[in-house]
Amino acid sequence: MPKDSLTITDNRTGQSYEVPIENGTIKAIDLRKIKTDEKDFGLMTYDPAYTNTASCKSRVTYIDGDAGILNYRGYPIEQLAEQGTFLDTAYLLLNGELPSQAQATEWTYDITHHTMVHENIKELLDGFRYDAHPMGMLMSTVAALSTFYPEAKDVRDKATRRTQILRLIAKIPTLAAFSYRHLMGLPYAYPDNDLGYCANFLQMMFRMARGYQPSPVLERALEVLFILHADHEQNCSTSAMRGVGSSEADPYSSTAAAIAALYGPLHGGANEMVLRMLKEIGSKDAIPAFIREVKTSGGEVRLMGFGHRVYKNYDPRAKIIKRMADQVFEVTGRNPLLDIALELERIALEDEYFVKRKLYPNVDFYSGLIYQAMGFPVDMFPVLFAIPRTAGWLAQWEEMLEDKDQKIARPRQVYLGAARRDYVPLASRG
Ligand code: ACO
Repeated sequence: MPKDSLTITDNRTGQSYEVPIENGTIKAIDLRKIKTDEKDFGLMTYDPAYTNTASCKSRVTYIDGDAGILNYRGYPIEQLAEQGTFLDTAYLLLNGELPSQAQATEWTYDITHHTMVHENIKELLDGFRYDAHPMGMLMSTVAALSTFYPEAKDVRDKATRRTQILRLIAKIPTLAAFSYRHLMGLPYAYPDNDLGYCANFLQMMFRMARGYQPSPVLERALEVLFILHADHEQNCSTSAMRGVGSSEADPYSSTAAAIAALYGPLHGGANEMVLRMLKEIGSKDAIPAFIREVKTSGGEVRLMGFGHRVYKNYDPRAKIIKRMADQVFEVTGRNPLLDIALELERIALEDEYFVKRKLYPNVDFYSGLIYQAMGFPVDMFPVLFAIPRTAGWLAQWEEMLEDKDQKIARPRQVYLGAARRDYVPLASRG
């Protein structure tokens, strides 16, 4: 019978150790017993950027990067995008099961009735410069919510946690839309409880003096984009959420940290960068020269919206978005940058550089084109990512708090700096 264990021989000492294997992993702490002598600290693993380290056990989201599979709580993303709503998906991520009809009604009612924000938030936003990036405003206002709800600190109390989860999912579209209105110099538009989650967000964004009737096609497209972005297991921003949350910070502060992580151009800022890249390329004729630049830049110039740490195949979310683009463009008119994007994808997928490195379009390659056609300015793209991802962050945050294996996150290091030395007073330093 094969044993679920690993035998390690330390060639420094000739000693052998047996380490159990569970769920395809060994516990890094089990390596600590591998020592050259009693004084030795013991062996550690070195894994910058956590490319091969599981930081938690999770039951929320499953990804098979080689096969291009993404499931939330076991449900394939394609089925959720085809048949689900964003709020059902958020409920599923948080509770493990799709809501019954009664639960869905209650959940939708509760979210709808928490969409207002304290009036002081408007004053906070007014303090930002006229051209402040909305992601900076979103991050700050989400962090500020912790000061309005000090009871949120009680993260060990499930009922308190659940109230903050409702508030965050409900208020984040309001904060996002308010940030946009500040950027545009428009009066803030209040939530409308008669509308669904996405329609309400669209009206808070785009309503002018005579009200706003969102196109059902655009409302559904936003719903699908929100479903696709709701969770993606242990990515950079989710790890930030779990990392900050592990110190038992309140969920508003932890979510603000996750938004900060999402802001980076290698993560949620990528769809913004895709649009800027397509604009810079400017025409189909310029694509070969751009691809040459990417290939010869030694990794400095990247084809934004391509490549993924986990997917080494076509990102299943990108497939869904690409299909949906046609429906959206029927309503909004075709985004002229789409032709450049399609040609760029075609050329890249045939190019040995991208094939060899398994670089395929990720979720961000086409999402920005749709957002732009819907009327969202480029600065809003990462904000549009943060709204639905809040549900995933909160599901992962709560799972972390309930996980008996978890403690405050505190990685080790390999110290390679100076050995102990004596302080030299300034006058003696030359
Ligand atoms: N364009 C050109 N080359 C690339 C790209 C790209 N987009 N992505 C990776 N490569 C190359 C790297 O230069 C490297 O080449 P090398 O082996 O010759 O050095 C190789 O492919 C492996 O790249 P890594 O950086 O090691 O891959 P990693 O897993 O660390 O990075 C990442 C993943 C950050 C997403 C990367 O592919 C990238 O920068 N993509 C562009 C930004 C982007 O679209 N981000 C969105 C990701 S999805 C999301 O966050 C929602």
